[in-house]
Amino acid sequence: MARIFITGANGMLGRSLVRVLEEDNQLLPTDLPGTDVTEIDSLISQVSDFGPEMVIHLASMTDVDRCEEDPESAFRINSLGTRNVALACAENDAVMVYISTGSIYNGKKETPYTEYDNPDPVNAYGRSKYFGEVYMRDILNRFYIFYTCWLFGGAGEDKKFIPKILELASNRDVLDVVDDKYGSPTYTNDLAREISGVIRTGYYGRYHCANSGFVNRYEEAVEILKIAGITGCSINPVSSDRFNLPAPRPRSEALANYNLSLMGRKPMRSWREALSEYIVTELA
Ligand SMILES: NC(=O)c1ccc[n+]([C@@H]2O[C@H](COP(=O)([O-])OP(=O)(O)OC[C@H]3O[C@@H](n4cnc5c(N)ncnc54)[C@H](OP(=O)(O)O)[C@@H]3O)[C@@H](O)[C@H]2O)c1
Repeated sequence: MARIFITGANGMLGRSLVRVLEEDNQLLPTDLPGTDVTEIDSLISQVSDFGPEMVIHLASMTDVDRCEEDPESAFRINSLGTRNVALACAENDAVMVYISTGSIYNGKKETPYTEYDNPDPVNAYGRSKYFGEVYMRDILNRFYIFYTCWLFGGAGEDKKFIPKILELASNRDVLDVVDDKYGSPTYTNDLAREISGVIRTGYYGRYHCANSGFVNRYEEAVEILKIAGITGCSINPVSSDRFNLPAPRPRSEALANYNLSLMGRKPMRSWREALSEYIVTELA
């Protein structure tokens, strides 16, 4: 039983993590508007009032295009907000858990990234997440960082790729989906269970944490329709040049859980198996 303060707890990953951790820990899940990680004095006093052994920091500006259009907010929330959480941990001698992203890499690698590849983010979101990590490392010496990728989960609250594809495919005969962006789709429930296991070990450090395997968005969309049994819509592979989005995306954010495997942990199941469980049990 540990006392754990959580920021950004109402988000996609937060909902899964709270469900997994609440059974045997004393949690204080927080989010906007009551807890804003950019308000340093209020944050430190809230954390100090609770007196946690651990702070799990999920709060983030996660919309990649909004980060590109408003980098000041991205750096204020994702970089300085993470510094603020690290300072609150230092004040309370608490271990920090930070969630980062495969978007810290430049995406040029042909095979999945490991923890031993160099960060080189190509957009404001990736830069703001990476510099949050740098602040945390400068301030604390007891922390875990989990890098993850293309999250899905949270059923009705999920507004991301999978429900979007399902909705569009129900209303159209043909869908254009990019086939030149790669990632490792990851189920929030699987990620939450793995995080919960690792943070009990005391083996602080940097961990890639994603479901096994990688895929491009076109292949993922084809799999989504197959699992959902939707046959009336065909998916057309297109280049990402077709969509004029504000933020450049790395070609690949695919992750290998290299450190977890070196430590002998059981591999996380494949993204296909996890996706199938999500669609069948939560979205059907
Ligand atoms: N989703 C992905 O595919 C993905 C991939 C890799 C890494 N990650 C990382 O995983 C973590 C959790 O992601 P998620 O998908 O669960 O994100 P999410 O659903 O967007 O949740 C983030 C939460 O943080 C809150 N928040 C935003 N600004 C805040 C602030 N200034 N102070 C306190 N809370 C604030 C958000 O509130 P509002 O909704 O009101 O803004 C939201 O409830 C993030 O660190 C993210 O960078 C996510």
